[in-house]
Amino acid sequence: MSSVNLEVSGGVGTIRLDRPPMNALNIAIQDRLRELAAEAGRRDDVRAVILYGGEKVFAAGADIKEMRDMDHAGMVVRSRELQESFTAVARIPKPVVAAVTGYALGGGCELALCADFRIAADNAKLGQPEILLGLIPGAGGTQRLARLIGPSKAKDLIFTGRQVKAPEALALGLVDRVVPADEVYEQAHAWATRLAQGPALALRAAKETVDAGLETDLETGLALERNWFAGLFATEDRERGMRSFVEDGPGKAKFR
Ligand code: HXC
Repeated sequence: MSSVNLEVSGGVGTIRLDRPPMNALNIAIQDRLRELAAEAGRRDDVRAVILYGGEKVFAAGADIKEMRDMDHAGMVVRSRELQESFTAVARIPKPVVAAVTGYALGGGCELALCADFRIAADNAKLGQPEILLGLIPGAGGTQRLARLIGPSKAKDLIFTGRQVKAPEALALGLVDRVVPADEVYEQAHAWATRLAQGPALALRAAKETVDAGLETDLETGLALERNWFAGLFATEDRERGMRSFVEDGPGKAKFR
C-alpha cells in the first residue's frame, strides 16, 4: 500500500493520505498524487472526488526532513514537479471536496486549495507556515490562496505563517463549512455524492469555465462560457434535463 490511495465507493473517489503521524507530503506522495488525479479524472466510476487525510490530520505540509538537504539546483526541478502534481489535482475535471481534519499546513493547506470546496472539522487549523522556515509557499499557495480569499488576507497568512482555526477560516472564506470533527468525512461524502449525481459534462464545463475564467480577461471568459453552453446542447443530460422539466414538471425534473 502506498501512503496515498484512491478508494472508490458509490461514484465518489477518495484520495486518502495515510502517512502517520502528520501525513507529511514527501516526494513519493507528491508524485503519486499526480497519478491518482489522472486516474480519478479518467475513471467512469468516479464522478466526484474527496481529498482526505484521515480522522486526525489533513497534512502538515511537505516533508521538512526530506527537504532539508535539497539544494537550489535540485529544487528548481523538484518545485516544478511539485506544482505539476498539485495542478493535476486542481484540474481533475470533476467536483472535488477537501475534508479537512486537524492540521492543514503548508503543502497541506495548498492541497486543500486545489479542491473546489473545503469542509473543515471544528478542530481544523490551516495556514502557510513556510515563512517560519525561511521559505514561501511552493505548491501554489501564493497564487491559489490570494485568488480564493484576496491578496491582503493571503499576505497576512503568508507573511506571518500563523495558524487559522476553523471559525476564522470560515470567516475568511478559506473553508466553506465547519462541522463537528467526527462528521467531516461523512458530510464531505454526502456533499460529493450529491454532486456525483449531477450531469457530469455540465459540471466539468462549469468547473473549467470558472477556473479558466479567473485566469483570463472577461471577453475570453465569456467566449469560453458560450462555447461550452452551446456545446452542452449536444449532450444527453441536457436533452433529458430539459425534457423532464417540461414533461414531469419542475418539482420532479432530473438533476433537481
Ligand atoms: C516532516 C513533520 C512535519 C513535516 C510534523 N512532523 N510536521 N515531519 N515534515 N512537515 C513530524 C515531527 O517532526 C514529529 O516527528 C511528528 O511529526 C509529530 O510532530 P510534533 O511537532 O511533535 O507534533 P505537534 O506538537 O502536535 O505539532 C504539530 C505541527 C508541527 C503543528 C503540525 O509538527 C509543525 O509545525 N509541523 C511543521 C508544519 C510546517 O511547517 N509545514 C510546512 C512545511 S513546508 P518526531 O519524529 O519528532 O515524532 C511546505 C512547503 C510547501 O509545506 C511544499 C508543498 C508540498
